Amino acid sequence: MAPTAGPGGSSSRHPGWPARLGPVQCAAGPVELRPLRRSDGRAWRALRLRDRALIEPFDASSDLSWADRHSGALWRSHRFLLAGGARRGEVVPFAITVGDRFVGQVTLGGIQRGALRSGWVGYWVDSAVHRQGVATAAVALAVAHALGPVGLHRIEATIAPDNLASQAVVRHLGFREEGLLERYLDIAGAWRDHLLFAVTAEELPHGLEQLLARWRDTGGGTGRR
Ligand SMILES: CC(C)(COP(=O)(O)OP(=O)(O)OC[C@H]1O[C@@H](n2cnc3c(N)ncnc32)[C@H](O)[C@@H]1OP(=O)(O)O)[C@@H](O)C(=O)NCCC(=O)NCCS
Repeated sequence: MAPTAGPGGSSSRHPGWPARLGPVQCAAGPVELRPLRRSDGRAWRALRLRDRALIEPFDASSDLSWADRHSGALWRSHRFLLAGGARRGEVVPFAITVGDRFVGQVTLGGIQRGALRSGWVGYWVDSAVHRQGVATAAVALAVAHALGPVGLHRIEATIAPDNLASQAVVRHLGFREEGLLERYLDIAGAWRDHLLFAVTAEELPHGLEQLLARWRDTGGGTGRR
C-alpha cells in the first residue's frame, strides 16, 4: 500500500521526512537543515579531506585510506545509502548549511519504532566555522524535529571521552549523561569506550524553544541568537 502523504510531503512510513528546518541564528550566521543534494559532494569531499585530523579520530574504522573514503564514488554511495534509509524511515539525514553554504551533516540514525521509538544523533562541522555554535544549533533543530514530527521518544548521543567539543554540544542542550559504554564502537581502528548521553520527550515539552533556552542558560552561544 502506498504511504500516506503528510504535511510538507512527509509520509506515514517515514514521518518528518523530507524536511527543511531552521534558521537558528548563531555567530557564524543562520543555521538551516535540508536534505543532502548531489551537488553537496564537492564540498563534502573538500571539507572532510582538509579536516581529516579532526574527523578521523571519531569516525568509523575502515580498511580504505582517507582519500579513498572521500572519492566521488564513495560520496554517491554514501548519499544513496542515506536516501534509501530515509525512504525506509531508518535515518533522517540532513545537510547543515550556514547562509546556504554546506558546512556539515547532522543525522538521526538507528531509528526504531514500536515500544522503543528511539534513535541516535551524529554530526560533523567544517572547521572554518567551529566554536561559533553551528553544531549546537544543528543538533537542537534535529532533536526537536526527532521528538516532534518524526515521532521518537528518546535520542541518544554516544561520544568518546576525549571528544570534549562534542560533549559540550549535547551538554548545552541538556542531554543527560547516562554512563560509559565499554568497547562500544569500532572507531579509528579499535573498539572504543563511549559516554552515553540521552534526552527523552518528557524532558522537552516545548521542543526547539526549550533547547535554545537551555543553550542560552548554560552560557553557550551568548549573544548568538
Ligand atoms: C564536535 C563538533 C561537531 C563541534 O562543532 P562546532 O560547530 O564547533 O560546535 P559548537 O560551536 O556548537 O560548540 C562547540 C563547543 O565545544 C567547545 N569546544 C570546542 N573545542 C573544545 C575543546 N577542545 N575542549 C573543550 N571544549 C571545546 C566550544 O567552546 C563550544 O562550547 P561553548 O559554546 O561553550 O564555547 C566539531 O568539533 C566536529 O566536527 N568535530 C569532528 C567530528 C566529531 O567529533 N563529531 C561528533 C562525534 S560524537
